[in-house]
Amino acid sequence: MTVSMTTEQIAERARRCFGHAVEVTGPLAGSGAGLRLQGLDLAEPLSPDQVGVLLDALAHFRLVHLPGQDLQKLSLPLFERFANHWGAPVPHPSNFLRGGKPGQSDGVTTGPIEMRPHEQRATAHVNAAFDDLSCMSHESPAVLVVANFRGDPSNPGRPPTGPESTARGGTWHTDIEYEPLPIYVSMFLVHRAPTPREPDGHWVQSPETSPNDPKPYFAGSSDTLMTRRKQLPRDGETAFVDTAAAFAALPADAQARCRRMRVRRRLNEGDPGWLAPIVRTNPRSGLESLHSPIWASRPGVRPPVTIDGETEGASRQLLDELEAHLLQPEFRYDHAHAPGDVTIWDNYMTLHNSPPMKVGIRSSDDARLMYRLSCKGEPALTLPRQDGAAWLDAHIAAGYRSGVV
Ligand SMILES: [Fe+2]
Repeated sequence: MTVSMTTEQIAERARRCFGHAVEVTGPLAGSGAGLRLQGLDLAEPLSPDQVGVLLDALAHFRLVHLPGQDLQKLSLPLFERFANHWGAPVPHPSNFLRGGKPGQSDGVTTGPIEMRPHEQRATAHVNAAFDDLSCMSHESPAVLVVANFRGDPSNPGRPPTGPESTARGGTWHTDIEYEPLPIYVSMFLVHRAPTPREPDGHWVQSPETSPNDPKPYFAGSSDTLMTRRKQLPRDGETAFVDTAAAFAALPADAQARCRRMRVRRRLNEGDPGWLAPIVRTNPRSGLESLHSPIWASRPGVRPPVTIDGETEGASRQLLDELEAHLLQPEFRYDHAHAPGDVTIWDNYMTLHNSPPMKVGIRSSDDARLMYRLSCKGEPALTLPRQDGAAWLDAHIAAGYRSGVV
């Protein structure tokens, strides 16, 4: 059963437990998604009541924006402490090796993390690019550095000498949906966002949207779907889709079909894989939403999914139709980033995509630098978390245990 909570109800509770200086605004999107709570200091430990308000904000609004963090105060270890309330932080596969191989070739293991050597990690490349911009200090393998620039660690302080260009946006996806227990909450801490604008008012030129060029997708989807996929923001915003609103807008028979649907997800081609539902019900709000109902969200990296009981061709057709529904403008929200922002999203209730961005940049003014943490499991009102060893071994890659500072 859906128990809807209004912006004013969340605001009243937020003022009661965070103080009257907190300003709550929302929804941020026309679909009803997104709530902003301004005036919270996430460097301070949170009380159970405070955590409860934030959990409810996410459960009802799918995306929560907590701007204005003091980056001198909110260190990455403190950001990871905050993330522990949402679930167990998961090491990102780009940060570790297993048996000498990149962690991206994933699988369940209980073995210890073998951290990638520092010079191979994104931090070293980011730090080498500009004298006036370095990553916030961290060692945790849970921190994913998201940056549109790389220097050469053997020749620090020199921006790249190749041509500046605009990289196309990514593909619509949710974070790490390809494990039996998917990630459900991800969050960014924004260090830098690009400020320059071209004469037309945007950071990047209008991206090429010809349906004749399928990249980065597989060829063969309809022109309508391809055009919707490629309509991405141009100021470095992260593009989101509200899959709760999109599910609610489906006709009743299509909703029923989605509720019955199971998709086979596989880590690698040839794996037997496992069956996963695409409709999830949020345990706090009762909202139903679509989780990664995408035929091939990681072309060339993970195999496309198939719908249980359907052929590959029929699976693609049905899921492409669903994706075309989801990507309609009324369910979309482009979230602008600013330094000091923390933005949290529920991967069961949203899709997202990275925008086109300048790469090979000459100036740190064009830098887009953020840190992502992602969490699995149940929220925790108090810390440290009490996850059992067997659960951690089964679901958190490489045996990582998040420290609480
Ligand atoms: Fe992502």
